[in-house]
Amino acid sequence: MAKEKIAVMTSGGDAPGMNAAIRSVVRSAINMGFDVLGIKRGYNGLLNRDVVDMNLRSVSDIITRGGTVIYTARSEEFKQLEYQKQAADYCRELNIVGVVVIGGDGSYRGARALSNQGINCIGIPGTIDNDIACTDYTIGFDTAMNTALEMVDKIRDTAASHDRCSVVEVMGRNCGDIALQTGIACGATAILIPEVPHDLEKDVIAKIEATRSTGKKHFIVIVAEGIGGVEDMAKYIQVRTGIDSRATILGHVQRGGSPTLRDRVVASQMGHKAVELLSQGIGNRVISLKDNKIVDYDITKALEMKREFDIELFNIAMDISI
Ligand code: ADP
Ligand code: F6P
Repeated sequence: MAKEKIAVMTSGGDAPGMNAAIRSVVRSAINMGFDVLGIKRGYNGLLNRDVVDMNLRSVSDIITRGGTVIYTARSEEFKQLEYQKQAADYCRELNIVGVVVIGGDGSYRGARALSNQGINCIGIPGTIDNDIACTDYTIGFDTAMNTALEMVDKIRDTAASHDRCSVVEVMGRNCGDIALQTGIACGATAILIPEVPHDLEKDVIAKIEATRSTGKKHFIVIVAEGIGGVEDMAKYIQVRTGIDSRATILGHVQRGGSPTLRDRVVASQMGHKAVELLSQGIGNRVISLKDNKIVDYDITKALEMKREFDIELFNIAMDISI
C-alpha cells in the first residue's frame, strides 16, 4: 500500500524563514514515516494539480535562502466552496492525510476551509508583519526588522553628512511592530504607527525642534506603512522647520534576504510541531510562539484573538528619543 503523504505549501506574501520551515516539515515528516509533497504557489497548486515530490535532499541548502522554493501566491478561487471541495478531492486522490500551510491570517482561513472538507491542516505563521494575534512571533519578522535597520543606518550616514531629516517608511501593513522596533534600534527622533494616534505638530515637529535645541542636527523619522504619506511628511517638516528633508520607502527589500538565526530556529521548531500534530491525526490547528513556548490553537479561536500592543515598549521609545 502507498505510504500516507504530508504536503506543505506557502501562501500569501513570502517571508524569510519560510524555506527553513519547509525543510523542517519535509525532514520531520520523513522521519515520522510519511512521504512528502510540496504544493506549488499556495492553494493554486491544489487547484492546478501543481505538486512536487520532496525528499531529504530536495531541501538541502535552503535554510540559508530567503523567499520560498515552492513559490507562493494568493488564490481568489480557493475562497469558494466548490474549489475547496475540488482541492480536498485532489488531496484524497494523492493520499495526502495532512497539509502544513505557512502564511498569514488569510492562509489560516484557507487551512480551516480545507480542514472542514476532511483534510487535516496545520497553519504556521509566516509573514514579516508580526500581525497574527495568536502568536508572539511570525517567521520573517526578525529578518525584516534587521534589514530595515541596516538600511536606516545607511540612510543616517547621509542624513548626518547633510544635516538633514530623513523620513523612512517601513512595511507591516496595519501593524506597527517593524516600525516600532526598527525605530528604537536606529535611534529615531519620532516613530509613527497605526496603534497610537499621532499629531504631526506635537509628535514630530515639536520633537525635532526640542532635540535641535539641545544640539541635534540630523533626524530620523520612522513611519509605519499603515500611516504612509512620507513624501508629504518630509515636505511638511522642511516647510515647518527649515531642515532639508528627504523621504524613503524601503519597500520589498524588507521581504528578501537570508533569514536570521531566530527565524531559522523558530521556523524549524514550528515545522516540527506541525508534523507532530498531523502524525497524531490532529488538524484545524495553528502553531504559535507564546511566552517562548511552541503551542497550538484551534484555527477559529486563533482568528478570534485580539492582538495586544506593547504600549510599554512604545513609551520607552518616546522617553529615550529626546
Ligand atoms: P496572508 O495569508 O498573508 O494573510 P492573504 O490574506 O492574501 O494572505 O491570504 C492568502 C490566501 O489564503 C488567499 O489568496 C486565499 O487563497 C486563501 N484565503 C484567504 N481567505 C480565505 C477564506 N476566507 N477562505 C478560503 N481561503 C482563503
Ligand atoms: O504582508 C507582508 C507585506 O510585505 C506587507 O508588509 C505589505 O503591506 C504587503 O505584504 C505587500 O504586498 P505585495 O507584495 O503584494 O505588494
